[in-house]
Amino acid sequence: MSSGRPVRHFLRDDDLSPAEQAQVLDLAAELATDRFARQPLAGPQSVAVLFDKPSLRTRVSFSVGVAELGGYPLVIDAGGTHAGRGEPVEDVARVVSRQVVAIAWRTFGQDRVAAMAAASRVPVVNALTDQFHPCQVLADLLTIKQAYGRLAGLTLTFLGDGSSNMAHSYLLGGATAGLHVRICAPEAYWPSTDVVATAVSIAGRTGGSVHVTADVKMGCTDADVLATDVWTSMGHEGQEGARSEVMLQYSLDAGKLAVASEGCRVLHCLPAHRGEEIAAEVIDGPASLVFEQAENRLHAQKALLCFLLEQAGT
Ligand code: CP
Repeated sequence: MSSGRPVRHFLRDDDLSPAEQAQVLDLAAELATDRFARQPLAGPQSVAVLFDKPSLRTRVSFSVGVAELGGYPLVIDAGGTHAGRGEPVEDVARVVSRQVVAIAWRTFGQDRVAAMAAASRVPVVNALTDQFHPCQVLADLLTIKQAYGRLAGLTLTFLGDGSSNMAHSYLLGGATAGLHVRICAPEAYWPSTDVVATAVSIAGRTGGSVHVTADVKMGCTDADVLATDVWTSMGHEGQEGARSEVMLQYSLDAGKLAVASEGCRVLHCLPAHRGEEIAAEVIDGPASLVFEQAENRLHAQKALLCFLLEQAGT
């Protein structure tokens, strides 16, 4: 399948330029209205979807999405492979990328997807690592654009674990879209300073901005979008008690909506714990776009695959 062009990957949100992100989101909006408009995988060509961690939404949306693009989703759980016996990531990449046209991988460290990409002949997509969840934020940006008709200039506040993959991806992906991104979190859970610095640099070019605060009122006031995620992400099991105590005041409840902008919309990437990081009346209330957001994983990832395959000359 080699076109001679360097293979493009999507390992972090800033792997797409602002123009490329806008292009992918435009195509995602098109695919949301006409799900079978593009068939780049007709044949069918295969996309490997690899999981080292549990998933519902990512598994469903990649499987359905690849099928709707005319392809075959080859879904593999790590437990059924030789990963536990130490097969090197590079060997997995060399074997798999000779037989599929793209690889999506949910795993642990960002270094693992980077190693996969470095050894792969085909595009590699980060389907969640400990550091980033860029496919989710692409879907979230589509959701916000569907609600507001635009992205640049809107204010999105993420409440909760500011050191999480979602917070990091909102910083990079949001800044790329020209959003004003606020991370509202206890100081012990602030984002990586490297990610913040990169987001600030991107925002300087897109007209967005980045603000990190522990002050809930300051963080939520006049926000157009309030977003949150579980307080204890995969990989931090056993820390639930300590995290819940310090994050309690950051729960996305009616009080936060009351100081946000009129018509503020609410996002949560799911799975959610009602009564913890988000109040039941909020996630199940009129401001919530949570299930549109979950559906948009499908449209956003299909558009991303189309973009990456086109770049690869597939
Ligand atoms: N939001 C998300 O990635 O969901 P899953 O963990 O179920 O894939």
